[in-house]
Amino acid sequence: MRPLALITGASSGIGETYARILARQGYDLIVVARRADRLTALKTQLETKYAIQVEVFTADLLQDADIAKLEQRLRNAQNLTMLINNAGFDQLGDFADVPLEKHLGMLKVHLEATIRLCHAALPAMRQHRQGSIINVSSLAGVVPLPKNSLYSATKAGMVVLSEIMASEEKHYNIAVQVLCPGYTYTEIFDTVGFASFDVKVVPRFLWMSSEDVVNESLARLRPGQALVIPGWMNRVVYWSHKYNPIGKYLTFMVGNWFYNRNRK
Ligand SMILES: NC(=O)c1ccc[n+]([C@@H]2O[C@H](COP(=O)([O-])OP(=O)(O)OC[C@H]3O[C@@H](n4cnc5c(N)ncnc54)[C@H](OP(=O)(O)O)[C@@H]3O)[C@@H](O)[C@H]2O)c1
Repeated sequence: MRPLALITGASSGIGETYARILARQGYDLIVVARRADRLTALKTQLETKYAIQVEVFTADLLQDADIAKLEQRLRNAQNLTMLINNAGFDQLGDFADVPLEKHLGMLKVHLEATIRLCHAALPAMRQHRQGSIINVSSLAGVVPLPKNSLYSATKAGMVVLSEIMASEEKHYNIAVQVLCPGYTYTEIFDTVGFASFDVKVVPRFLWMSSEDVVNESLARLRPGQALVIPGWMNRVVYWSHKYNPIGKYLTFMVGNWFYNRNRK
């Protein structure tokens, strides 16, 4: 039987890249997102190219009922090998200026959905004493960014949750990874949340391709190793924030300057 992976946010960007790379490795897939047309096109391509099976699962993770359906699907997927909680979005701006609905949406998609899907997937993984979970957080989850309050807060929640789960689940031979990418070329920068941000002025050395991010994630996936920060430049940012006593202030100063300079 082929291994099976469920990927949320598989209709574009990092999630779609996980789908393409895992399909090439011979995984069957359950691909989840709101844009059914994108998922169906991906299914056709991958099934034709790799002779695997792809199930399209259309769901809006802002909706309780859709998360519940997905939990049920996971409980029924006894052969699930990998769960990737990747769906996400951002809305830049001061905490007080961003509509409350957007803040609560990030709480729902980044944290509540991740918690519920991990909880639904783990019993079968524990029973089989194998499996992997990848929670796609962000560099903002370990280096809080100005104008990204709920994004940073929810992504930090994913980091803490995953680190604790990783230490518990390694005893069942289950890997729990929290991936913290920095700037990665995807469509997230075309979404409404980034409307005020001109990405062209972000220096090229700060960017990674989604292929490099996903390859590093999969290469470093093993029980007990939670935090993965892909790319040397992102690790430099993380270390200087964590180990430099004035790192936190520098991050906020540079972050604010960067945000204001890059506003369209
Ligand atoms: N790109 C970066 O620089 C970067 C850096 C750090 C972390 N990340 C994280 O990486 C993850 C993937 O982002 P990306 O960069 O690949 O962006 P992307 O291309 O915009 O992909 C986001 C994915 O999330 C899905 N999604 C968003 N809201 C959803 C909802 N309510 N219900 C279901 N699916 C939803 C989207 O699908 P539909 O619109 O079809 O629903 C899409 O497939 C996110 O969690 C993001 O925070 C990205």
